[in-house]
Amino acid sequence: MAGKKGKVVLAYSGGLDTSVAVVWLAEQGYDVVTMTADVGQKVIDLEAARNKALHSGAVKAYIFDLRKTFVENYVWPSLKANGMYQGTYPLTSALSRPLIAKTLVDIARKEGAAAVAHGCTGKGQDQVRIEVCATALNPNIEVLAPVRDWQLTREAEMEYALKHGIPVKATTASPYSIDENLWGRSIECGLLEDPWNEPPEDAYELTANPLMAPDTPDYVEITFEKGIPVALNGERMDGVKLILTLNDLAGKHGVGRVDMLEDRLVGFKSREVYECPGPITLLTAHRALETMTLDKRVLISKKELEVRFAELTYEGYWFSPLKDCINAFIDETQKYVNGTVKVRLYKGQAVVRGMKAEKAIYRHDLATYSEGDTFDHTAAVGFIKIWGLPIRTWTSTFPREDKAEQPIEA
Ligand code: ARG
Repeated sequence: MAGKKGKVVLAYSGGLDTSVAVVWLAEQGYDVVTMTADVGQKVIDLEAARNKALHSGAVKAYIFDLRKTFVENYVWPSLKANGMYQGTYPLTSALSRPLIAKTLVDIARKEGAAAVAHGCTGKGQDQVRIEVCATALNPNIEVLAPVRDWQLTREAEMEYALKHGIPVKATTASPYSIDENLWGRSIECGLLEDPWNEPPEDAYELTANPLMAPDTPDYVEITFEKGIPVALNGERMDGVKLILTLNDLAGKHGVGRVDMLEDRLVGFKSREVYECPGPITLLTAHRALETMTLDKRVLISKKELEVRFAELTYEGYWFSPLKDCINAFIDETQKYVNGTVKVRLYKGQAVVRGMKAEKAIYRHDLATYSEGDTFDHTAAVGFIKIWGLPIRTWTSTFPREDKAEQPIEA
C-alpha cells in the first residue's frame, strides 16, 4: 500500500539518527526511499546499510559509490582554491554536503518525490548546507528533518529504535561525533568540548601521534596538471587512489592533525578536531607550486577570493552565483599550475623541499647572483629614482617628526 503522503528521499547513513528517521517518516505516511552515498567514509558497509534501510521500512534503498564524483567535482575545485575555512580547516565535511544534496534532488526527480529528508540535528551546519544546496537546485523541493523538527533526544531515539526492532550498537558507540570522507575526518563532542583538554589519542584514526611517528622521513613527489594532482612519485593515478595513498603515507607520519576553535555558521564557536593527512599535504604542495607559476598580482587577488570560496562552501553556498564567478576566476588561474613538488613528511609536518615547473615565472637568469645573470643592474638607478619620488616629495613638504627617526646622537 502506497503511503498517503507520497515519496520522500532520505539521506541514509545507516546510523541511529537516520534509521529512526526511516521508521518515523513511514509512520507519518511517507514512502521512504533511502540514499546512501559512499564518499570514502571508512566505516560504511554499503550492503548492510541497504539491508538495514529495507528492514527499517524503506520501500527502496539506493546505494552509490560517489567517490570519483566527490573528488572531481567537489574536492579538486576546493584544492584549486586552496580551500581552508578560517585558514585552517580543509572543509572536509562541508564539501560532501552539496554532493549529498544534489544526489537527493536527482533521486527525488527520478522517483517523483516531492520531498527529501536528512537526519541532522538543529545545532549543526550540515542541516543548513543540505537544505540550502537542495533548494538551490530545486526551489520547490520540500525538506524534512525528523531528528530536528520532532526534537528527538538521543535517549528518545534509542527507546524508539528498540521499540521498532532497529539494531542499536550503543556499546561500540564512539564518545565523539564523527564525520568522514576521502578529504578527512571530523571529530567533535565529548572531552573535546573543553578547549583546555588536549585531544585524547583515541580521537584519532587516520594519523599517528607525531611524537611516535617514524624517525626517518618519507619524501613524496606530487605532480600537478592545471592545479590538479595527477601523479605520486611519477606514477599516474586517479584522484581517489591518489588521495587514499597520500592519506596512508602522510597519516603514518602524523601529518594533518588540526585542532581549532571554529566559528560556526549558526553563531557559536566550537572546538573541532580534524585529521586530514592527504589534504594538508596536497594543499601545502599546491600552494607552493602556485608561487612558482602564477603572477604576483594574480596570487594576491586569488588569496582574497580563496577566503570567500572557503566561507561560501562552509556556509552552504556551494551552488550560488558568487561561487560560480569565483570558480571561473580560479579555473583561469589554474591553467598555469603545472609542475612537480617534492614534500617531506616527518613528525607531523608536510614541508616543501623542492619544486619544478617546465613553465615557471621563477627565472634563474633573473634571480641568480652568479654567472648567467641577465638582470639589468644599470636600470636600477632610474627605477629607484622614480619609485621613491612620491616619498621624497612628501617628506620635503612635511618633514617627519617621529621620535624614533630623530638623529642618533654620536
Ligand atoms: N565542523 C565541521 C563542519 O561543519 C564538521 C562537521 C561534522 N559533521 C558531523 N555531522 N559530525 O564542517
